[in-house]
Order: sequence, then structure tokens, then C-alpha cells
Amino acid sequence: MKLSTRFARRAAIGLTAVSLLWWAVLHWANAPILIAFSTVKTPHAADSASKPVGVAADAIARGAYLARVGNCAGCHTAPGGAAYAGGRAIGTPFGAIYAGNLTPHATGLGGWSADDLWRAMHHGQSRSGRLLLPAFPYTEYTQVSRADTDAIWAYLQSLPPVEAATPAHELRWPFNTQTALLAWRALYFAPGQPPAQPPQGATVERGRYLVQGLGHCAACHSPRTALGGIKPQGDLAGGLMAAHGWLAPSLRSASQAGVAHWPVDDIVALLQVGTTRTAAALGPMAEVVAQSTQHLHPDDLQAMALYLKALPQDAAPVAFNSPKPPPDVALRESLNRGAQLYDKHCAQCHGDQGQGAVTASGQRAYPPLAGNRAVALTPVHNLVQVMLRGGFGPATAGNPQPFGMPPFAHVLTDEQIADILSYIRQAWGHTAPSVSHLDVLQARKLD
Ligand code: HEC
Ligand code: HEC
Ligand code: HEC
Repeated sequence: MKLSTRFARRAAIGLTAVSLLWWAVLHWANAPILIAFSTVKTPHAADSASKPVGVAADAIARGAYLARVGNCAGCHTAPGGAAYAGGRAIGTPFGAIYAGNLTPHATGLGGWSADDLWRAMHHGQSRSGRLLLPAFPYTEYTQVSRADTDAIWAYLQSLPPVEAATPAHELRWPFNTQTALLAWRALYFAPGQPPAQPPQGATVERGRYLVQGLGHCAACHSPRTALGGIKPQGDLAGGLMAAHGWLAPSLRSASQAGVAHWPVDDIVALLQVGTTRTAAALGPMAEVVAQSTQHLHPDDLQAMALYLKALPQDAAPVAFNSPKPPPDVALRESLNRGAQLYDKHCAQCHGDQGQGAVTASGQRAYPPLAGNRAVALTPVHNLVQVMLRGGFGPATAGNPQPFGMPPFAHVLTDEQIADILSYIRQAWGHTAPSVSHLDVLQARKLD
């Protein structure tokens, strides 16, 4: 076969596989939000019969901590199952993917070595050489140093072995093929070049190392191309988790999730406690706080905060700044209905002027909606999710019993929800575009 024909044929196979794969990847990449909102209790080395001593015990303790930063247990624990024993189904429209057993049993990482874990984390390859699906965020973990990966290895080896065979993935052809993965990786994955010695202390460099590596913030917070890879120059510029109806807003824009203008203490509070005076971690971000960031050392949270503050800032998106269009009759009616519904269903918690409420002890009970950037955020996915499903903030040491927001999916119609949201986006000086009942309908269909 002539070289050019062979190349053309390979390219054609590769491209077909890739384009069929891209939807799957979009879903896989957003997999973490499927994790039930429960804090996983991780077993500690001290629980197991043989207590390692000295250097080994140090590495194990460090590894336990690093596994928290990477939130390995979040995906690798089935609901109600033993921590790290895997078996959690991560649903995609193409079938389920299972995060496997990481305990040192023959059905898990029993026969593995530290080198094998390095290959998985750094190169995205299983012990057998099989290319791994990017639902496992090795695209970020590839930035983790060998020493840190080895510490995680020491910790995983110290876990009580649990017999739990990982169910086979239930992906349909061609999403289950190595050819599709090979093509995708050629476009979107290159092994990282982590430092031999990870930076230490409350510094921007340490923050970069954590955010870009184990923290895998980009897995949700970066925009993706049609093929499911992170857009060039798109790092942390906001990602639509389309399959699940959430927006992980831009960390590079003050009107979205950017925190460059926040005091360091507020950023630390968001990651540690889950709330600040003006913001709340919701939905998938509440899980990140509950399972991972609340457990971080204050120096590491400070390092992350410094790095987030130092991110390049994009020009402000329009939502907060666009002039208010003169209301036409239909819109005026919608806003009037919205105002009445707000008084009936929302004001008792969020205040008649959207000012929110604090408890007698000064703890924030209900977030303010007036001046809250989450209210003005466009597109409106998160607002619609909060309205339909309600939710709790993460339970953390600083906020052990978060107040809840009731779900309104069965209380209000799509039109009523759109009316209320349009109202709060234009009340109290807000000038954000109104919401259509179709936005609500679309989110309902994701169930
Ligand atoms: C967002 C969910 C998610 C997170 C977080 C996650 N994993 Fe996974 N992991 C997966 C999935 C899904 C697979 C299966 C991939 C496959 O089979 O192609 C996997 C596969 C693996 C494998 C390969 C297992 C094998 O049999 O080849 C290892 C090793 C692994 N993960 C370790 C870790 C470690 C260590 C961490 C934390 C630093 C971690 N994972 C965090 C979802 C996750
Ligand atoms: C599983 C997906 C996911 C991951 C991983 C994730 N986030 Fe988020 N994040 C979200 C979503 C969705 C929101 C919007 C909801 C909200 O405001 O809490 C968000 C919101 C935020 C906000 C804005 C909060 C506010 O109310 O203004 C910050 C800051 C943030 N994330 C930082 C981070 C950092 C730092 C990391 C990595 C350590 C991270 N996120 C990892 C999904 C994620
Ligand atoms: C019983 C009290 C209660 C009622 C009633 C209530 N909420 Fe909430 N709401 C909350 C709490 C608590 C939160 C924070 C939830 C969290 O952190 O996940 C919240 C969060 C929100 C948020 C997200 C704010 C942010 O910072 O991201 C919006 C928007 C919102 N509510 C709108 C409404 C609207 C509109 C109504 C009326 C239809 C309403 N709420 C009714 C308690 C309530």
C-alpha cells in the first residue's frame, strides 16, 4: 500500500473514531458530579493490623493526604461500599464506566507495583498496557511528581484489602475501542513534566502544582472542543458540564467564578468551609469541598488561593454589564408574576430585598441573592439546577449543619420558575438577561 493511501486510511479511521467518541468524552470528563454527595470515610493506616513505622509511615500519611487532594475516593468508592474498593458506575449515554478497586487485593491493585501506578497516573495506561479512559483525570494527574505518586502508592498499599471485582465497562462500540482512545490521545494528551521536588509552602508555585495537578480543577472548569479536549488557551476559562446541566464557571473572570479580587481569606473559606459572605459552593462544587478541599492543610489552601488570584483575567463577560433592555409588555408581566412568586416562595429565607439571612450567632444561613454574581451568571444552568433540585452546601468543620434550599421541581411550573429567575436577575439593580421556560424544560429532561 502506498504510504499516502495508508496515511489517508488511518486518518479516516482515526477521525471517525474520534468524532464518535467526543460526546462520550464530554460526559466522562464531567463524571465527578455523578458522585453521591456523601463524605467518604477513609480508612487510615492505623486501622490495619500491621502498623508500618518510620519512613514508610511518613509516606503513608503523606499519601493519605495527597489522595484527599486528588479525591481518589470520590470516584473509587461505590455508594455504601468500602472506601477505595471501587465499583461505582459512572453513567454515560453510551453505557456505564466503572472506577475500579484500588485496594491491595487481587481484584484491585494487588499485583501492581509503584511503577504501575506511575504509568496509570502519568501516562494513562493500565498495568496491562491498556489505554485508560479520560473519565480518570490522568490528563491532570500527569502533572503530579513521582514522589507524590509513590506516596499515594504507599497509602493505597496500606489499605485493608477488599475483595471486589470491578465490573466490566458497559460501553458500546466504538466507544470501547483502543483505536478511538489512541486517536483522542494523539490530539489531547501529552505526559506532563512534573518537577522532581514539588514546590512547598504557601506560594503561587505550590498553588499551581496543586490546582493543575492533583486538584484537577480544569477537569470541570475548562472549556472543551467539539472533540472533548481542553481548548488551547482555555485553561480554567469555564466549562459547561452539558450532560449534567451545570456550568463550572470561569476562574479567570470576576463576574463568573474568578476570585482575583477576593481577599485570600475568603477564597480559603470557600474551599474550606463551603460558604463566604457572598458565595456558596453548590452542586458539583459542594462535593469537591466536602470530599477534598475541606481536608487540605491551611498552607495548601492559601497556596491555591494565591495561584487563583494570579490567574490571567479575561475581559468581563456581558451578564453584569449589559444595559437593561426596556421591558416589553410580556416581559413586564413575567417580572410581575415573578415578584409575587418570589414573595410567596423565597422571601422567607432570602429576604424581601434578597439580602439573605444570618443566624443569631452570625453564621450565614441563607445566601443573599442581591448582588450575588451566581444570580446574574449567564448561561443560567446553575440557577435552574438550584431551583429544580434545591440542595445543601457541603457539611464542613466550619459549617457542620448547612441550611438547605428546598427543591421546587414539583412545586412550580417551568413558566413560574422562569418568571422567578427573570425577576431575581433584574431586581435589586441586576441587569442580567431574562430566563426562558425552555431553559427549565431542558434541565428537567436531564433526569
Ligand atoms: C473523576 C473520577 C476519578 C477520580 C477523581 C480518580 N479516578 Fe481513578 N479511575 C477512574 C475511572 C472511571 C477509571 C477507569 C478507567 C478505565 O478503566 O479506562 C479509573 C482508573 C484508575 C486506575 C487504573 C486501574 C486499572 O485497573 O487499570 C488507577 C490506578 C486509578 N484510577 C487510580 C486513581 C488515583 C490514585 C486517584 C486519585 C489520585 C484516582 N484514580 C482518582 C475515575 C477516577
Ligand atoms: C466536579 C467538577 C468541579 C471540580 C473538579 C471543581 N469545580 Fe469549582 N465549581 C464547579 C461548579 C459546577 C461550580 C459552580 C457552582 C458553584 O458556584 O459552586 C464551581 C464553582 C467554583 C468557584 C466559584 C464559587 C462561587 O460561588 O463563586 C470556585 C472559586 C471554584 N469552583 C474553584 C475550584 C477549584 C480551585 C477547584 C480545584 C481544586 C475546583 N473548583 C474544582 C465544578 C467543579
Ligand atoms: C428554606 C429556605 C429557602 C427557601 C424557601 C429558598 N431558598 Fe434558595 N437557598 C437556600 C439555601 C440554604 C441556599 C444555599 C444552598 C447551598 O449552599 O447549596 C440557597 C441557595 C440559593 C441560590 C444559589 C445562591 C448562590 O450563592 O449560589 C439561589 C439562586 C436561590 N437559593 C434562589 C432561591 C429562590 C428563587 C427561591 C424561591 C423560589 C429560594 N431560593 C427559596 C435556602 C432557601
